[in-house]
Amino acid sequence: MSSTAIDDTTASAATSSDDNPTTGKVLEHEYDGIHEYDNPLPGWWRAIFYGSMIYALVYFIIFVKTDWIASPEQTYRAAALEWSATHEASSTAMVSASEDQLAAGARDPAMVERGQTIFTTKCATCHTPDGRGLIGPNLTDLFQIHGSKREDLFNTIRDGAPGTAMMPWGTQLPATDLVAVASFVSSLRGKNVAGKEPQGNPVPAFAP
Ligand code: HEC
Repeated sequence: MSSTAIDDTTASAATSSDDNPTTGKVLEHEYDGIHEYDNPLPGWWRAIFYGSMIYALVYFIIFVKTDWIASPEQTYRAAALEWSATHEASSTAMVSASEDQLAAGARDPAMVERGQTIFTTKCATCHTPDGRGLIGPNLTDLFQIHGSKREDLFNTIRDGAPGTAMMPWGTQLPATDLVAVASFVSSLRGKNVAGKEPQGNPVPAFAP
């Protein structure tokens, strides 16, 4: 009795296409007597769905994969640098920088660019603008006089090399400038610009 009732219902769903309030259509397939209405998602819903995928792809390419537009992080770093340039004018010889900090600086184009500007104005007379060396040693080869790490470069820049033309810059430059110029100098290692002959001890290239 009851099974007949069910059969009657499904049969009527399959045949009477007017039952679907939205489209009036029933799809071809049928499972165990169950039919499916052709009920597509609304256009506005699909527009948002596909639109967000396309937006995510465009966003990823522009902000993550290219430098076309500054990412929020880059904007923040630039603003932070600008702030510290105007607010930390007085420096102390006690500033220190960690290896990680300098490695991150060497990877940051804004930091390297800032360091390069300082290097060109303050250091290039002795090291030349591209660091190949003149009065000061070649900073692009795989040799270092004092230590072997980025930290050692930073410390030499801060404290100078007593008895040589390399003066202590820790009392001349704000802390952020010291970090920037040391980041730039450490980014030169391994560029091997032909210039002053190697001085000091052989050292490994820095990990990128
Ligand atoms: C008046 C010349 C002169 C100026 C200006 C100068 N340097 Fe030097 N620099 C030297 C000399 C000379 C040495 C080698 C010191 C030694 O033999 O111990 C040196 C050494 C260094 C070293 C250590 C290299 C190593 O192999 O250990 C670094 C790093 C350095 N300078 C960076 C800088 C930076 C950055 C500036 C600018 C803020 C600068 N120098 C400005 C002359 C100079």
